[in-house]
Amino acid sequence: MSLRFLLNGQTVVLADPPPMLTLLDWLRETRGLSGTKEGCNEGDCGACTVMVTDADGAKPLNACILLLPQLHGKAVRTVEGLAAPDGTPHPVQQALIDHHASQCGFCTPGFAVSMATAHRAGDTDHDTVLAGNLCRCTGYAPIIRAAQAAAVAPVPDWLDDPLADVPALEWGTCAANAIRPTSADALAAWYVQNPQATLIAGATDVGLWITKGLRDLGPVAFLNGCADLRGITVDAGEIRLGACVSIAEMLELMRAHHPHFAAMLTRFGSAQVRAAATVGGNIANGSPIGDSPPALIALGATLHLRKGDTRRSLPLEDFFVEYGKQDRTSGEFVEAVTIPRQADTLRCYKLSKRREQDISALCGCFNLGLEGDVIATARIAFGGMAGIPKRARAVEAALIGQPWAEATLRAALPAFAEDFQPMSDMRASAAYRLQTAQNMLLRLWHEGAAYATDIDAVTP
Ligand SMILES: Cc1cc2nc3c(=O)[nH]c(=O)nc-3n(C[C@H](O)[C@H](O)[C@H](O)COP(=O)(O)OP(=O)(O)OC[C@H]3O[C@@H](n4cnc5c(N)ncnc54)[C@H](O)[C@@H]3O)c2cc1C
Ligand code: FES
Ligand code: FES
Repeated sequence: MSLRFLLNGQTVVLADPPPMLTLLDWLRETRGLSGTKEGCNEGDCGACTVMVTDADGAKPLNACILLLPQLHGKAVRTVEGLAAPDGTPHPVQQALIDHHASQCGFCTPGFAVSMATAHRAGDTDHDTVLAGNLCRCTGYAPIIRAAQAAAVAPVPDWLDDPLADVPALEWGTCAANAIRPTSADALAAWYVQNPQATLIAGATDVGLWITKGLRDLGPVAFLNGCADLRGITVDAGEIRLGACVSIAEMLELMRAHHPHFAAMLTRFGSAQVRAAATVGGNIANGSPIGDSPPALIALGATLHLRKGDTRRSLPLEDFFVEYGKQDRTSGEFVEAVTIPRQADTLRCYKLSKRREQDISALCGCFNLGLEGDVIATARIAFGGMAGIPKRARAVEAALIGQPWAEATLRAALPAFAEDFQPMSDMRASAAYRLQTAQNMLLRLWHEGAAYATDIDAVTP
């Protein structure tokens, strides 16, 4: 196995690198590049942010949960690689100095890289860009002022890494326990022979098994080389997302089709997490609190699974059988998810203890279709209310055929207790979950009636 990528403009070739080695550990311990910091080592703080560029552009990624094989054919810039070759600081670095945006400085390299990546993309939504970077002592106002000031500066041309210098060379002979197939066909053929293997897509879950769980994963397959798992197609009938489409890519797509879903996804992890995490990983991990399954179920999505050359499809809600158990056989993987085209009536509400960068306590998604003033169709799905993402079928039944009226929604509230017996945990008590799920249905009414329901928007 030969791994090749650009590091701060220089080609790096590694023969048989340990596949479970994180970029952060490699940078600091092997290359002496200690500007990239280790804060949490679990994707939460952004101190380890690096800029990773491929044919689709530059992304901010957390180096602590980024495994070396995920970099094949890409270009990496660490904080040491932001300044010009003559030492001229990058505009965001100069602005951080000018605006006194650093005190202890521990978080500053991560901020600088996140800011430089957004600057390169012309993204001036600084709050969203920097939600995954934690600063414990400066306070965010000077940092945001620095980002605003740097936004007007031209993008430095010294960041234009020549990706052509890292040709998509073949991985070569596989190390005994790690492969990086370059197509879904190759993955399918290998996985059916190695069904005990771990598949690694964005590694935003798997990375923590390594850094926090200290797990030895045995054989692994990196999916990032399978270009045909990354496709998005939109036709008259459906939207098809390959399993390895990132949450960031899904967010952009949903802005045009289901904007409420897109708005909810802006609260999925952070920019760094969304750039790595995949749709397939968010479904296959079977989490009861994953954010995309409730929305996809409410949209009537279909999951496409593949084992060898055999494919099957099922409604996404049927994939989740019970906590820790999915309808997926040994050697079978998620190939894609499809969403039927439809008029947009989807509303998604994510409730978490912290607004930014937090896992849901619960997430409710509502897709009601009206005929005149009557509720003709209803697909409602929740995360965080059961051991799996689950439809609220009793609530749906209480709504269908009834007039669209506040009284109808209030009359449906008791049905939540038929659908869900949620658990109490550190995120929320069972009673709180049930109450807030009911409140989300009422919120739907209040939004429809154009009452102000957005608790983030402070209006004079
Ligand atoms: C800091 C942080 C914040 C987070 N915030 C959120 C959040 O707000 N909302 C949320 O929902 N999640 C959140 N997550 C969890 C995680 O980002 C998501 O679950 C993500 O979608 C997982 O995708 P991945 O590609 O990184 O999966 P990986 O880590 O690569 O894999 C996850 C699991 O899925 C399997 N898998 C991956 N792809 C396939 C496939 N195609 N077929 C079969 N199996 C597959 C893997 O073998 C593994 O078991 C967060 C994680 C971190 C670290
Ligand atoms: S060290 Fe905190 S996100 Fe990587
Ligand atoms: S400057 Fe100290 S943590 Fe940000």
